[in-house]
Amino acid sequence: MESEAYHAALAALDWQVALGANEAIGDLPVDRYDLPDKAPAATVKAARPAQAAPAAAPRAAPAGPDPVDAARKAAAAAQDLPALRAAMEAFEHCDLKRGARQLVFSDGQPGARVMIIGEAPGRDEDREGRPFVGRAGQLLDRMLAAIGMARAGEGVPVYITNVLPWRPPQNRDPKPEEIVMMLPFLERHVELAAPEVIVLMGNISCQACLGKRGITRLRGQWAEAFGRPALPMFHPAYLLRTPGAKREAWADLLSLKARLEAGT
Ligand code: URA
Repeated sequence: MESEAYHAALAALDWQVALGANEAIGDLPVDRYDLPDKAPAATVKAARPAQAAPAAAPRAAPAGPDPVDAARKAAAAAQDLPALRAAMEAFEHCDLKRGARQLVFSDGQPGARVMIIGEAPGRDEDREGRPFVGRAGQLLDRMLAAIGMARAGEGVPVYITNVLPWRPPQNRDPKPEEIVMMLPFLERHVELAAPEVIVLMGNISCQACLGKRGITRLRGQWAEAFGRPALPMFHPAYLLRTPGAKREAWADLLSLKARLEAGT
């Protein structure tokens, strides 16, 4: 249990660093010119809420590998997509695995010029073992078909995966520590699939791949993820709930098409 808390704290810290945090600051400002030489314990506590009380004795780090480090090593060792899939199947550190029916790795054409990164499998994907096969996935297929793309059959091929390969319980949002833990696999996935451009579907995907949220602001603006051009778009599940946003989604699809036609 202690080991779990330690790794969760470490993953949360990794996440902050990935988001660009490079300083540890407290919630409350401290005027250090105004501090008495020896501050009473209560004042220090209020001014530095993020710091733990000094421990009576130094604690040893818990035994067992750091899951993020383990993910990095397992991902780096995979030399092709089947090996990466096998490495993810064998990865035991993410609790989501225990609540899911199966790993959802990818769909579409490996080696396609476009790689789409969604959030996480839902109920249908968990059942079928393929990403984007439910209602949102069907809308995604129609969106792709509208610009002559397809994950299978006729059309410019695309390759599809998710930030997380296992369904979160009750389709809850992925936790930061789950994203950080699985990020090395996603990064390697992109490397091995080697797309020319990436499409980031929704906030979770932007958070994981760009370190930013705010899809309404980010969508349609080409950015860079894993060293490749990346286009944030509204998630198809959002478009199902908010049909009025399809106008922006259409503009983004056209931007994707134009970028590919221009040779990226
Ligand atoms: N939503 C996603 O982000 N991914 C899926 O695979 C299904 C729904």
